[in-house]
Amino acid sequence: MRKHIVAGNWKMNKNFSEADDLINQLVEKLESTDLGDTQLIICPPALYIELASDQSDESYFMVGAQDVSEHDNGAYTGEISADMLENMAIDYCIVGHSERRAYHHETDEQIARKVDQLLKHDLRPIVCCGEVLEEREANKQFEVVKRQIVDGLFHLTAEQFADIVIAYEPVWAIGTGKTATPEQAQEMHAYIRSLIAEKYGAEVADNTSILYGGSCKPSNAKELFANPDVDGGLIGGASLKADDFLAIAQSF
Ligand code: PGA
Repeated sequence: MRKHIVAGNWKMNKNFSEADDLINQLVEKLESTDLGDTQLIICPPALYIELASDQSDESYFMVGAQDVSEHDNGAYTGEISADMLENMAIDYCIVGHSERRAYHHETDEQIARKVDQLLKHDLRPIVCCGEVLEEREANKQFEVVKRQIVDGLFHLTAEQFADIVIAYEPVWAIGTGKTATPEQAQEMHAYIRSLIAEKYGAEVADNTSILYGGSCKPSNAKELFANPDVDGGLIGGASLKADDFLAIAQSF
């Protein structure tokens, strides 16, 4: 059966001592917090991955990166390879976040290559998809998300797909305070699961965790996570405060 996952995407936030503080707060609070079967993941900026992964050995969270290069090691200034991430003893990596798609013009084909790099190095991709506002207003959200899933992921074998986590993040809900309604989230998550079932069969689809992202906070997490196809959240702003993040993680 699929896992409940709550992952924090810190994006480009926190200086070193603030990052250290937040990690320490999480470690301390997790000692007395019951998360049940929910897997907690934090995805700090790459500079702080080691800081986080040192602590994760002793505590109840896993660590992920926010992005990875599509290339093998080599002359790619500023990039971080899957080989390097594997050596940091982390487990997950976000790929295809809408901010990377929008500001760095990442295509579904590049995202597919990043997914391949991660799988080659035993890291689990958290693959983001989601439509922008104009696409939703034109009722094109299903078409857009289908293209992202098919072009980004459907070259994988069923065995490889078992390591994929999907995050549906409607771009109009990210950082805007405007959350998708539980019905909108459920509708899209069920659609994504049906695409996976069609391609890989019901068992693979049932075992795939599909997270919701976009202005998820303690006040709305419960009603989002109550939906049968919403298996957790990818949390931006609210993951920067230990209490809010842990409150969301306790919303199942
Ligand atoms: P948000 O970001 O929770 O701040 O809306 C979510 C994300 O971009 O992953």
